[in-house]
Amino acid sequence: MIKVWDYLPEYKKYRKSFLNAIDEVFKSSTLIFGPKLNKFEDNFKKYIGVKYGLGVGNGTDALYIAMKALNIGTGDEVITTSNTAVPTVTAIVNAGAIPVFVDVNDYYLINTNLIAKKITKKTKAIIPVHLYGQSCEMDEINKIAKKNNLYVIEDCAQSHGAEYKKKKTGSLGNIGCFSFYPTKILGSYGDAGFITTNDKKLFEKMMRIRFLGMERKKMSSGHWNGKYYAVEHGTNSRLDEIHAAILLIKLKNLEKNIKKRRQIAKRYYKELKNTGLLLPEENKKNKHAYYIYVVQHKKRNKIMSELVKKNIHLNISYPWPIHIMKAYKKYALRSSKDLKKTNFFSKKIFSLPMYPELTLKKQKYTINSLKEILSNLS
Ligand SMILES: Cc1ncc(COP(=O)(O)O)c(C=O)c1O
Repeated sequence: MIKVWDYLPEYKKYRKSFLNAIDEVFKSSTLIFGPKLNKFEDNFKKYIGVKYGLGVGNGTDALYIAMKALNIGTGDEVITTSNTAVPTVTAIVNAGAIPVFVDVNDYYLINTNLIAKKITKKTKAIIPVHLYGQSCEMDEINKIAKKNNLYVIEDCAQSHGAEYKKKKTGSLGNIGCFSFYPTKILGSYGDAGFITTNDKKLFEKMMRIRFLGMERKKMSSGHWNGKYYAVEHGTNSRLDEIHAAILLIKLKNLEKNIKKRRQIAKRYYKELKNTGLLLPEENKKNKHAYYIYVVQHKKRNKIMSELVKKNIHLNISYPWPIHIMKAYKKYALRSSKDLKKTNFFSKKIFSLPMYPELTLKKQKYTINSLKEILSNLS
C-alpha cells in the first residue's frame, strides 16, 4: 500500500536511537523542562536563525500564545487565509479575536494585493500561512504591516526549513509558530510545537504564558526550584523531554530530508508536467520545503478512486476551506464572495505521496499509475 505519508520506514531506521534517547530521559528523573528541551530550543532557534525560541505543547498553542503576548484579544481582527488547516483559525478565535479571510494566489498563499482592503481600525495582526511548505511574500506582508502598525505572526506549521530570499520562515515576522505534529516536515511522535522571535520582551512574556504565567524556572532532579507564583494569566503548554529528545535526533536529519522531498518533487514535476495535472510552482524567491505536493485536476475524485484500486491512498488538504465550515462561516460574512480562488482550488486539489523515505519504486509506481489513469480520462 502507498500512503500519502508514512512514518514507519523512518521509525525502523532510527528506532534504536529514539528508544535510547527516551530511556535516557526516563532515567534522568527530569521529565519536563530539562536538558533535552534546553538543547532543542537552542539548536532549533539557531537552525531558524533567530535569537529566541521556546518549545510549547503544539502549533495551535504556539499561535495562541503569540497572540496573547501581543495583547490580541476580544474584538480584534486578524487577517489570514481560509485555505489553511483549521488550527490557524482555532487559535485566533481562542484568543478572542475575529479571523478575516483574504483570498490566495496561484501558489495557494495569501494574495498580498488583497490584504490592504481588509484592514480596519480593529485589525491587529496578519498571520501568513506558509502553506504546503512554501513561504508567503514576506517583504510585501511586512511592508503592509509596518504601514498599518500591525504585527506579523508567521504560521510555519508546514514550513520547517523553507526559505524566502535565503532566510528561513520563522525568522521573517515578529513571531514564528511551528508544529511538530507527526506528519510535519519536522515531526515528533506525538504533539509538540515551537515559537521563534528576535524580541526579548516578547520571548520572556511567551515563556511565562506557556507555563501558567510563571517566571522561567528549571526543574532539577524532580524538584521545582522556582517560585510557584503566577505573575500574569497564562496557559499550560509544554514541550516535554521525551519529544524534545526525539526532535533533537530528527533535527540533525532535517536538511537531508528536505533535500529528499525536493528530489521527489522534482521527479513528480518532470514526469507529470504534460499529463493534464496542474502541478505546484516554486516562487523564484523561495526554497520550497514540500511538506505536501499538491496538484489540481477537475476530475480529482475519479482519479483518487482509481488510485485506491491500485492501492494508492491520497489525501486532500483541504477539501473544505475554513470559511464554509459550520464553526467558522459566521466570520466570513464580509469575505466569502472574495474567496474565489480558495473556493475554486478546494474542489480540485489533492496531494501526492510525500515523505523522505518514499522509495523510488513507490514514486515510480505512483507516477505510472497516475499517467495511466489520466490518459484514460475522457
Ligand atoms: C497551517 C497549520 N497551522 C497550525 C497547525 C497546528 O499545529 P498542531 O496540530 O501542532 O496544533 C497546523 C497543524 O496541524 C497547520 O498545518
